[in-house]
Amino acid sequence: MLFLYLLIHSLGLVKAAKHQLFTSTYGTPFIYTVEFDDEANTLKLLANTSVPAASQWLVLSHDKKNLYGTSTTDKRTEFLSYAVTSPTSIKYKTTTVAGTCAARTIHVDALQVPPYTVYGVPWYGADNNCGGVMAVDDQGVIVKSVQNYTYSPGSALHGLAFHPEGTFMYSADLKGKKLWTHAIDRATGKLTLVTSDKSHGEPRHVSVHPKGKYAYAMLEDTNEVSVYSIDSTTGAAKYTGKSHSVLSSKDKTAHRAATVRLSASGNMLYATTRGSRTPGAKGSVSAFTLKADGSIASQDFIIPTTTGGGGANQVAPTIFDDNYFAIIDSGTGFIEMWKRNKDGAGAAVIAHLDLADSTRPGNGCCSNAVWYS
Ligand SMILES: *[C@@H]1O[C@H](CO)[C@@H](O)[C@H](O)[C@H]1NC(C)=O
Ligand SMILES: *[C@@H]1O[C@H](CO)[C@@H](O)[C@H](O)[C@H]1NC(C)=O
Repeated sequence: MLFLYLLIHSLGLVKAAKHQLFTSTYGTPFIYTVEFDDEANTLKLLANTSVPAASQWLVLSHDKKNLYGTSTTDKRTEFLSYAVTSPTSIKYKTTTVAGTCAARTIHVDALQVPPYTVYGVPWYGADNNCGGVMAVDDQGVIVKSVQNYTYSPGSALHGLAFHPEGTFMYSADLKGKKLWTHAIDRATGKLTLVTSDKSHGEPRHVSVHPKGKYAYAMLEDTNEVSVYSIDSTTGAAKYTGKSHSVLSSKDKTAHRAATVRLSASGNMLYATTRGSRTPGAKGSVSAFTLKADGSIASQDFIIPTTTGGGGANQVAPTIFDDNYFAIIDSGTGFIEMWKRNKDGAGAAVIAHLDLADSTRPGNGCCSNAVWYS
């Protein structure tokens, strides 16, 4: 088997499979199913599903039978729950208010182990320092808010991630310039504060390595990936003092970083920034190779993205191959597939699909993507 795998790869043959992702929008009530064909290197729109509200952020449940979204339109303080029976069948189920902030919800994440609770945070507003925990029923549908909790005055949360064992949650507090650690009660999903660690920049998104020893935060203002070590007993994430810029030294335009995400196997990190502070400026994408424990072995490239990415320029590494990733643009509205070069020192666009919403140009698709297969 291994020989065959190596042979196929050395010949550069493809896996000949079709992969689907769900993409969401900043202002139009649609969820799009997009398919990537890794033989033809094409992207196509498989389904355009009308939903009650736009979800700037989407996440799948552990078994991919449910999709959870924030509410960017409508009442905005809500989280939406959908049942997924196939990549093209997304059915609205419930809406739940969690968190006492009267602000637009910006991020949602789902625990991948029991009790499969869903966690969400809001963004803009004076009272933007809260979060909410939501319980799901035996089908995975969000049924109720089980806990409202607060961060600290001045906080504005933007991203969440879990320890792989499901025992701790990490929150990226952009305005409070902190990374928070909460312990998760594995029976109820409820949170208890462990600690928060000051950052030298604005943490926007956070990801945790599958071994649970390191977390990576993307700092929006400094455009750096900051590496945190995780205490094996308390779960506390603490800054290691190591940060890596995702801007090339030649790039003097202003940027706002977007995200940091792990590759399919957990052996690589991809990070992006947006060009949105300078008109016409491009964003960038960078790749890192990780050691087995999750510490950074090397930064392999920093290259410009096709556009500034609008508010998005999210990178969504595939779940089938470390070398493939999607870039999501909301400026003009598109999804692109990129593939890392054979030597690992660069990457190139291999497919592009425009998804501009006719109903709200420039403020619709695409804000985020989650891979289904
Ligand atoms: C959390 O706050 C929301 C909004 O006020 C409320 O609807 C929900 O019932 C609260 N949850 C709990 C567990 O108190
Ligand atoms: C999705 O469908 C709506 C009509 O229901 C349409 O206005 C919108 O432009 C469609 N989106 C795309 C990308 O085709």
